[in-house]
Amino acid sequence: MSALDDFGDSDRFGMVLGRYVLIHHPDAAEFLKKAARFVRPDGRIAFHEVDMTSVLLSSPTIELRDALGHDLLARLQKACPESGVAGNMVPAFVSTGLGIPDMFCEIPISGWNTPLPELLINTLQRLSNDAERTHFEDGSEIRF
Ligand SMILES: C[S@@+](CC[C@H](N)C(=O)[O-])C[C@H]1O[C@@H](n2cnc3c(N)ncnc32)[C@H](O)[C@@H]1O
Repeated sequence: MSALDDFGDSDRFGMVLGRYVLIHHPDAAEFLKKAARFVRPDGRIAFHEVDMTSVLLSSPTIELRDALGHDLLARLQKACPESGVAGNMVPAFVSTGLGIPDMFCEIPISGWNTPLPELLINTLQRLSNDAERTHFEDGSEIRF
């Protein structure tokens, strides 16, 4: 992986691809514009971003899992300046002159015996100051 600024002005690629990158930039459209400069005329540009505007709740309800989802969403929204970018891809692309992007949306569905819960818990742990435990907004303590 390289930062955009590592490439030369004349570098051009058949594919410019980013995953979970736009959410970190205060101006996603500006970043897209910079990234698009590196695409060959016959090339492609693609971004994969997480929708951080709402929580996918469990069904049937698992209260701890949903509390974890709400807490993670609040932390990610604070940490990511463009947390809503997944829902704004069309205006972001159009404003750069790239036109309307082809898009699809994927919703992970899982039980406790799949990698998703572990991913949620590991993400929560990384976003916590304490590797042993964290607190939800209501004060309840979660031990990792
Ligand atoms: C959440 S990580 C995602 C890492 C990886 N793409 C993945 O999906 O596992 C965010 C990434 O955005 C990249 N990033 C942020 N600003 C960038 C820039 N100006 N040019 C290239 N990459 C950038 C960082 O290097 C970091 O790896």
